[in-house]
Amino acid sequence: MKNLAVFISGTGTNLRTIATFCKENPHLAQIKVVISNKNNVGGIEIAQEFGIECVIIIKKSINEFENEAMQYLQNVDLICLAGFMRILTPEFTQKWENKMINIHPSLLPAFKGHDAIADALSYGVKITGCTVHYVVAEVDSGKIISQKCLEIYENDNKETIRPRLQKIESQAYYEALSKIL
Ligand code: GRF
Repeated sequence: MKNLAVFISGTGTNLRTIATFCKENPHLAQIKVVISNKNNVGGIEIAQEFGIECVIIIKKSINEFENEAMQYLQNVDLICLAGFMRILTPEFTQKWENKMINIHPSLLPAFKGHDAIADALSYGVKITGCTVHYVVAEVDSGKIISQKCLEIYENDNKETIRPRLQKIESQAYYEALSKIL
């Protein structure tokens, strides 16, 4: 049985998927801790709903964040980044090599970076998607674990894509955990 930590910054849709996976597969994994780098975000309520400890670490520098986070990561086997919007240091990434995964809203290696959906829309691609991958020092570049694709319709914008994207992200994260745990 693996101990997970989940890092969040936002609404927590992917946290819900990870928590649901653990609930449905208690012999495989449990979430030891959720760490949020923001106050008052939806993901904190989702952690509470599932009865998971949630720590809020609001720090100016990423080094300070990582140092404090390390205190909660003893006995953790896998860190799941779930909408976590800060870039971790190469030192932290190396420490967690092959033990940290992330979800990104594009079919990597296309559209790396923080505004992948807008970038896909402005490029005019007709198919986009999401990717769950191992985290390496270079952003959005680690080995791919699972991917799901999504058709972009004629009049789509970031808002109209969002609910369809959330659906496939949930499928991709669940599948990724099933593969690696
Ligand atoms: C997701 O679209 C994810 O791909 C991106 O940030 C968003 C987070 O959503 N990295 P949520 O906080 O899990 O709802």
